Amino acid sequence: MIDRLCRDHSLSCDEYELLLDSQTPRLAEYAASRALEARKSVYGNTVYVRGLIEISNICKNDCLYCGIRRGNQSCSRYRLSEQEILSCCDEGYKLGFRTFVMQGGEDPFFTDELLCTLIKKIKKAFPDCAVTLSIGERSRESYETLFAAGADRYLLRHETADSNLYRKLHPESMSFENRMQCLNNLKEIGYQTGCGFMVGAPYQTNRSLAADLKFVEQFRPDMCGIGPFIPHAATPFAGFAAGALQTTLFLLSLLRLMDPGVLLPATTALGTIDPTGREQGILAGANVVMPNLSPVSVRRKYELYDNKICTGEESAQCKSCLERRMESIGYKIVTDRGDRKPFSL
Ligand code: 5AD
Ligand code: FES
Repeated sequence: MIDRLCRDHSLSCDEYELLLDSQTPRLAEYAASRALEARKSVYGNTVYVRGLIEISNICKNDCLYCGIRRGNQSCSRYRLSEQEILSCCDEGYKLGFRTFVMQGGEDPFFTDELLCTLIKKIKKAFPDCAVTLSIGERSRESYETLFAAGADRYLLRHETADSNLYRKLHPESMSFENRMQCLNNLKEIGYQTGCGFMVGAPYQTNRSLAADLKFVEQFRPDMCGIGPFIPHAATPFAGFAAGALQTTLFLLSLLRLMDPGVLLPATTALGTIDPTGREQGILAGANVVMPNLSPVSVRRKYELYDNKICTGEESAQCKSCLERRMESIGYKIVTDRGDRKPFSL
């Protein structure tokens, strides 16, 4: 079945589920070896970097898994000023970053007007850089306005393609339909669009994960961010176990085979559940890392889950740490916007 996925870049939902049910170390190793071939043919041994700037941990939502949910009273809240964000970009540019990802909770303070001014300033100061937004669900008009101001990419994880599971992970005020509508809007508007999901979230089954794979196959995002669920002590999901490293790696390989050109990050969550999680992610087929560019003073506050790594290190330390890590496995971080390379299915 792995060979068929390599060839056709598509399987049925039942087949994805069967693959997940029959996951063994041997099968995962085979999937990873085919995924690496596919990755090599499009991206060689290069790894793209994005500078992640966590602009605000204020969020109007109350997702049950997330450490910065509105209901978490023990979270100390912050938002970065325009000046702080621009200095992060400045530092990032000097370090060789050519993509800035502005990520944050759904913070109403960040109006279209404020964001447009910011995006224009970044694009003016760094015309050779891509600006990625990851600030949640907004109206179609808002997405259009931000795109017109110069935003190039948008990351909005779909979180799960199983609508029943979606309801178990989110409060009633949020809807699966709106999430999907947002993703369709982003793509239609012309953003390079990223979706993604958590692995091993509470109540998740292989059937739900198969739905995620089928969704990604049909949506054909430019990027797909996946990482293990990790419990956060101050959330309703505090008592649940974290997602498995091996399942996450296997899914990365399947995603690479499904779309050899897709941008696939080895996420911070993967590096949190295992000290070499990100290296293993690259060796399973991922081709992007996203070191933290946020000011060190706020890092600990952007705590989506417990024990998040890279909260004490300066940006330059994170960059060189990842450079070393990638070199240790024979890969090389490049100074590049890191756009998706053409690959025709
Ligand atoms: N464990 C792992 N990932 C999480 N995210 C939020 N909370 C957690 C958690 N407890 C992920 C979500 C979100 C992204 C920014 O971080 O998928 O989209
Ligand atoms: Fe941040 Fe290693 S990447 S310390």
